[in-house]
Amino acid sequence: MTDQLDELKSRILARTERIPAHIAIIMDGNGRWAAMRHKPRTYGHEQGVEAVKKVVRASGELGIKYLTLYTFSVENWKRPKAEVDALMALLAKTTLDNLDELIEKDVKLITTGRISGLSPTRRAALAEAERRTRDNKGLVLNLALNYGGRTEILDAVRSIATSVKAGVIDVAEIDEQLFSEFLYTANIPDPDLLIRTSGENRISNFLLWQTSYTELYIIDTLWPDFGRKELFEAVLAYQSRERRFGKVTEEIEDEPQSA
Ligand code: IPE
Ligand code: IPE
Ligand code: MG
Repeated sequence: MTDQLDELKSRILARTERIPAHIAIIMDGNGRWAAMRHKPRTYGHEQGVEAVKKVVRASGELGIKYLTLYTFSVENWKRPKAEVDALMALLAKTTLDNLDELIEKDVKLITTGRISGLSPTRRAALAEAERRTRDNKGLVLNLALNYGGRTEILDAVRSIATSVKAGVIDVAEIDEQLFSEFLYTANIPDPDLLIRTSGENRISNFLLWQTSYTELYIIDTLWPDFGRKELFEAVLAYQSRERRFGKVTEEIEDEPQSA
């Protein structure tokens, strides 16, 4: 098993120019995983954390630069209060419990979303992790928290409108580049690969602007069952894709695989 995985890894690393710089994941299926075992949904979320750890380590092994994990959406507040509370508590605890390993592995933790909407305790835990990993140079682990794609776009529109009104930006200057700089993900390249687990064929309000040319990879595996092997398989599948960005095959040959 390990040998097979190492062989997968070697195949990926043999094509460094085709290793995705940014992988985004919709980690879905924790509740169903738990239900299949007649356990509460929160047990599924706890096991989901184990999958997160495996994927962070495996991403580091491949030299992935950015890993964005959809951790809590703006819509997830509509879940039963007990589940929301458990998810939030798990988030703060996991962040602090694993901080030493993040530091040791040179991982830099950042967040994306309306962080101001989280409770002061949770914000404090995240702020501490961000502060202590600020200068790390390895994988950037981006937690999408209280995140909504439409909310993000509206927040950007509001900021741009305010800047136009204040005379700081001219309407003619508003282009894709400028707009991207007003998103929560300013300074982060668009995802090359978006993975969704649990077989749902939808975006669920995730990175609506940023995924315009992202390769999609949807698998039936439920998130707690996702690990090193599944990540390697997703990256291998990505490496076999042809990204055309609207061009024809002849035009893209010999070009690096990014926009
Ligand atoms: C994903 O698993 C975790 C979060 C959305 C926080 P779910 O909790 O959505 O699991 P399912 O989709 O109900 O199985
Ligand atoms: C998307 O999963 C949000 C996260 C993974 C945090 P959901 O389970 O909330 O999405 P839907 O409701 O199936 O679209
Ligand atoms: Mg779900």
